[in-house]
Amino acid sequence: MKYKKYFRKTSLKQKGVGDLFLEEVNKKKPKVFLEIGVFHGVTARNVCELLYNIYGSDFKYIGIDLFEKNDENKSELIPNTQFSNPIKKFYFNYIKRQNPYSKEAVENLLKKFNKNVTLLKGNSNKILKNIDMKKIDYVFLDGGHDYKTVMNDLIYSKEVILNGGTVLCDDYDLSQAPGVKKAIDDFIKQNNFSCKFFYNYRFAKIEK
Ligand SMILES: C[S@@+](CC[C@H](N)C(=O)[O-])C[C@H]1O[C@@H](n2cnc3c(N)ncnc32)[C@H](O)[C@@H]1O
Repeated sequence: MKYKKYFRKTSLKQKGVGDLFLEEVNKKKPKVFLEIGVFHGVTARNVCELLYNIYGSDFKYIGIDLFEKNDENKSELIPNTQFSNPIKKFYFNYIKRQNPYSKEAVENLLKKFNKNVTLLKGNSNKILKNIDMKKIDYVFLDGGHDYKTVMNDLIYSKEVILNGGTVLCDDYDLSQAPGVKKAIDDFIKQNNFSCKFFYNYRFAKIEK
């Protein structure tokens, strides 16, 4: 399946990276997928399309995001949500009348799958405590990029790995966010998990 951009922003924008990501997910064919860091929902929509092709309506996608910048989360890395493309600006401001970085806009992008999708607004440092990780088969970890947040996300995802699932982390070797690499390195060392890197050390795939 080809990764589509749905006229929005995504961190998987470089040529071929989205397709490679979908190939990876397709290898494991997860039934219950968790994305930490949804942003405009482009990856969410692509994952739902992929899982729908495999399972019909019998899959689940759960997405967590702050969906806003405020005083509590100002230390987290949130990509620029503004478009430089004037056509996209016009489309969202005057036609859709939506902020694409909002829970409502992502729900709208995913409305075709509304029975399969749960979107949770808030900080993963708080929200993951309330998720039954036993039920998750695959985690795409692409939320907060500081050491403590990534480590917390990984600790909660440990159960997924122990149950034979996969945790795929984005931005492993990102110079602006060295905490991601450090947290992943510490986590795999502490737990003796296997980790494979690909796309020039952009992705780190952690499994048992
Ligand atoms: C790089 S973007 C995610 C891109 C998305 N996965 C995609 O493929 O297009 C990172 C997202 O993580 C969210 N985020 C940052 N810190 C977070 C936290 N502590 N908890 C939940 N979401 C967080 C930001 O709001 C932002 O939307």
